[in-house]
Amino acid sequence: MQGTAIAQPNIALIKYWGKRDVALNLPAVGSISITLRELHTRMHVIFEDGLDADTLTVNDAPDENMLPRLSACLDRVADQDRPRARIASQCNFPIAAGLASSASSFAALTVAAAHAAGKSLTTAELASLAGQASGSAARSILGGFVELTNTNGGIAVDSLCEADEWPFAVVVAITETGPKAVGSTAAMEISRKTSPFYSNWVDQQAADLDTARAAIHDRDFARLARVAEHNCLKMHSIMWASRPPMVYWNAATMRCLETVRSLQARDIGVFFTIDAGPQVKAVCLPEHAADVEAALRKTQGVEDIMVSGLGQGARLEAAT
Ligand code: PMV
Repeated sequence: MQGTAIAQPNIALIKYWGKRDVALNLPAVGSISITLRELHTRMHVIFEDGLDADTLTVNDAPDENMLPRLSACLDRVADQDRPRARIASQCNFPIAAGLASSASSFAALTVAAAHAAGKSLTTAELASLAGQASGSAARSILGGFVELTNTNGGIAVDSLCEADEWPFAVVVAITETGPKAVGSTAAMEISRKTSPFYSNWVDQQAADLDTARAAIHDRDFARLARVAEHNCLKMHSIMWASRPPMVYWNAATMRCLETVRSLQARDIGVFFTIDAGPQVKAVCLPEHAADVEAALRKTQGVEDIMVSGLGQGARLEAAT
């Protein structure tokens, strides 16, 4: 009755922002992401008869805050009358700071819990269960370039291109490591209810998805770069125009964008994307990673840099 799974976070190039059903955690729009390789979460789940309650450790320290969301995920994967579980999570990057730790955590938890419960689930079932816990987690079930599509009453995930078919490097500039002020679920609802740009965002998403899908198919980096930056800035514009406004950026975030612009002016193929946090993800072809990393390292306010290639989907670590 145990399982260990490993999953990597993903970075959306065409973003998910807003829910069409809060109770079922269904996204309002489709999205396209890349799954990373070097950043990971490893989840170990043991169902144990006789335990009174679920327990959770994150990087070996007890964690009460995240536990209810993880317990709810276990209820969906293994049924509510399941034995209680010991959950141990190991994460090699900052949690809840806009680096998609919820994506890797819930993708890994879903795969580990299904194995521990003796369930053999399809990719679609795993994605749907992971997505109910965290919308972006559904995409981390698969590797490389992944599209999440809304279906009648649910979601589907598809691989657009494997990690090794179009290798990318992602240089993450960390500008702040504390947890974010407003979580993405609350922020999305504020946006949906109050932002004057929200309905335009939903209406335009299909066109951005078409452009990005075609660019990935044609391996057209410049076209993908343009639509990804546009989609990212549109998502942040919704937040800036919400009431209350939500600005996840800090001064160093802005300086990193200037660094990316100056690299682009030197004909280095790179583009930026930013999620619900102040970190800047600079996406480039592997041959430019060293230049991009060096330029971002010199950017004032950058505390740390992580460089990653593209990786695989969530998987069991070993038969247990
Ligand atoms: O899955 P959540 O609830 O962490 O939301 C993710 C939202 C963004 O990271 C900002 C965009 C995305 O598509 O990943």
